[in-house]
Amino acid sequence: MDGHPCALVTGAARRLGKAFALALARQGYAILLHYHISKEEAEQAAEEIKSLGVPVHPIPADLSTVDGITHLFSTLDTHCSSPGYTLRVLVNSASVMPKKDLRSLNAEDWDSTFHLNLRAPFLLGQAAAKRMTSGGLIVNLSDIGAHKLWTGYPAYVVSKSALETLTRLMAKTYAPSIRVNTIAPGLVLPSENVTPEEWEKLIQRLPLQRPASVEEVVSALEFLLKNESITGQTIGVDGGYSML
Ligand SMILES: NC(=O)c1ccc[n+]([C@@H]2O[C@H](COP(=O)([O-])OP(=O)(O)OC[C@H]3O[C@@H](n4cnc5c(N)ncnc54)[C@H](OP(=O)(O)O)[C@@H]3O)[C@@H](O)[C@H]2O)c1
Repeated sequence: MDGHPCALVTGAARRLGKAFALALARQGYAILLHYHISKEEAEQAAEEIKSLGVPVHPIPADLSTVDGITHLFSTLDTHCSSPGYTLRVLVNSASVMPKKDLRSLNAEDWDSTFHLNLRAPFLLGQAAAKRMTSGGLIVNLSDIGAHKLWTGYPAYVVSKSALETLTRLMAKTYAPSIRVNTIAPGLVLPSENVTPEEWEKLIQRLPLQRPASVEEVVSALEFLLKNESITGQTIGVDGGYSML
């Protein structure tokens, strides 16, 4: 990793996580590319990153377990701990969004959602902060749904709402050397839970009547990298969803 500060992006094999990893690679960061089961996509993303001239290491891990997080950091330490080339950025993008209302949600659904969406950013942030000896930036991915009563996704919205509070606590704890912020997209890429018709209906309700592009969400990360006065904040990239 010589000559490159390191950035760890979780859930980076595809969709938004991949776009964050590519953006960091374009800025010269060596990339620790975490994925869970999307091995082929992770390898493809790694090829794209390599072509930008920075080192990249795909690391598989189930982040809903403590062992998975320990494994991720022991692998990271083999690539990213020489003086001057330490970890500088963590983006917590991996997430699950089970579609079950409060009547059908069970304890296992609740725990697995919270373990990945909330406990993992806490443990990853804690482990990352220890390694960010030259300062750093942690970005947690929330959702505009954190402030909505989406009855179909209770575990998801409560976990994201708690993640925003966790972000603020982390920002206060790890200041002044490490900044911690949240990006809260609205509608960007449809999940498999929504039909194309439902997605179109949701889009039409937005004040801006269009989804945010992946590039627009990534530009929030680029802004946070550049503006070193921002910590403990949530940046909504939501087409006005929060006003509904
Ligand atoms: N897409 C949107 O429109 C949107 C809107 C608002 C907020 N967000 C937030 O933005 C972030 C990225 O969104 P996205 O749509 O790109 O995410 P996504 O496709 O829903 O999930 C991101 C990744 O999470 C990983 N993951 C799932 N279970 C895991 C586990 N047990 N351990 C480790 N990783 C696991 C998956 O990795 P593998 O594929 O390798 O299994 C997946 O690629 C999320 O936090 C999401 O809540 C997205």
